[in-house]
Amino acid sequence: MLPATVEARLAALPSGLRDHVERCRRVARELAQRHGVDLHKADLGTAAHDIARAVTGDALLAEAERLGLRVNLVERHTPLLMHGRVGAKWLETEDGVSDREILEAVRWHTTGRKDMGVVAKVVFLADKLDPRKVERYPYLERVALLAQDSLDAAILEYLSNELQYLLRQGLLIHPASVGLRNQLMVQMGPSPES
Ligand SMILES: [Fe+2]
Repeated sequence: MLPATVEARLAALPSGLRDHVERCRRVARELAQRHGVDLHKADLGTAAHDIARAVTGDALLAEAERLGLRVNLVERHTPLLMHGRVGAKWLETEDGVSDREILEAVRWHTTGRKDMGVVAKVVFLADKLDPRKVERYPYLERVALLAQDSLDAAILEYLSNELQYLLRQGLLIHPASVGLRNQLMVQMGPSPES
């Protein structure tokens, strides 16, 4: 059962986005069960992850400013990256959601962030592993496979691919993604130079 506030947010989303959220919730429940993560938190975080996704461009930046969020250089040039932080702020200030793990999961579901907890990791991966996205981007099959055994290994694989893509396309890279990738690499094994 979702809070009525979140149900209302979901009902207001375009249907394509609602369908994405429902597919992600199924992935999140599987991942949470497999890795012993709180099912309710993983589900609520995933259900709410895109509540601000329908707001775009300057309107999203204006909303971020209204909410008192600091917008960094990358976010100012790529406003889409702010939808998680705006959504988390709505949940916290208007929708009666106070759980830190759920708010963190919504806040960082697009970029990831160093030190994020297991609920956030499940929500992050559930968003990326929407079966429709896996069909479209073959490298996500490997991410899905890794996620069976290790959330961290799956996120590292995802971030490495994503950052390579951004570099090749000449796009900006959010520092939070770099921070998380560095942390996971250090945690997970010797560096190539050692
Ligand atoms: Fe999103």
